[in-house]
Amino acid sequence: MKLSKNLLNNLIEITSNSAIACYPHLGKNDKISADKAATDLMRRELNMLNIKGEVVIGEGELDEAPMLYIGEKLGNGLGQEIDIAVDPVEGTNFVAKNLPGAMSVLAVSEKGNLLKAPETYMNKIASGNHVPTGCLDLDYTVEKNLKNYSEVTNKKLSEITVCILDRPRHKKIIDELNRLKVNIKYISDGDVSGALLVTDTKFNVDIYMGIGGGPEGVIAASALKVLDCNFQGRFLFETEHEILRAKQMGIKDLNKKYDIDDIIKGESIFCATGITSGDLMNGIIKKNNKFITETIVAHDKAILKLIKKDVSIT
Ligand code: FBP
Repeated sequence: MKLSKNLLNNLIEITSNSAIACYPHLGKNDKISADKAATDLMRRELNMLNIKGEVVIGEGELDEAPMLYIGEKLGNGLGQEIDIAVDPVEGTNFVAKNLPGAMSVLAVSEKGNLLKAPETYMNKIASGNHVPTGCLDLDYTVEKNLKNYSEVTNKKLSEITVCILDRPRHKKIIDELNRLKVNIKYISDGDVSGALLVTDTKFNVDIYMGIGGGPEGVIAASALKVLDCNFQGRFLFETEHEILRAKQMGIKDLNKKYDIDDIIKGESIFCATGITSGDLMNGIIKKNNKFITETIVAHDKAILKLIKKDVSIT
């Protein structure tokens, strides 16, 4: 069964509303309250849909409620069976500090088609759809990946830009990028957006690489897959608990390198509404008696569609 247009419209509505729910929390230095507002809204509205949904990418586990936890059942239980990935606030620090780049995100697939992933880190690499599959690989050195990219795109190393989270754990990669004279776009948070910058040359990012959240990796992959882009990820486990959770979720090979088709199979819908303005879209604007939202959607076609909505303040 195909994911319906109706479901797509519902998801756009929900991420718009959860982004609006964050609006009063902008710059309040309280990321927990912002996340709770968006999460409560998402849960309430997803539960009203005619779906039999299950959270496969969420914000923790049952005992960490009220977050939308992995395994949580959503919807009225009557409609289509779907897997749901939620990130009610991607960039909680951005909301807390009222900084650019926060968004509210949902991705769905038909049941069984989205990787159920634990909350661990993931090593990631992504590139646009102008690059042949196999050109970049998590198992290659930074230098080999950059030289391969340079060769297939005819760009000099000094013309290539790599986006990476600004973290001490990336020192070796960053040193190597500097040695190769590659340009770096640092992001302080929000690597779903970071990875999506490879989708269009207008963002001037050639490659996304580095370690970020595993759930964020799966969510980014769901959009990149629709857009025919490239993504690989490998989970990194730091504690015995993380390993146990991964095994409970059915992950047998802890060192597996996931290609995009291992992460997301078949059709998917990705929706992200801006909470604060960023590279991909504008944030919530309050004007007179309405909110104006911008949502990017990846579904069915090889472009990120931008949907604007006016939502009356009631
Ligand atoms: P939150 O919105 O949940 O705070 O996540 C923000 C984020 O920057 C993600 O985009 C990224 O994948 C992850 O945190 C990186 O984690 P860390 O801050 O531990 O490096």
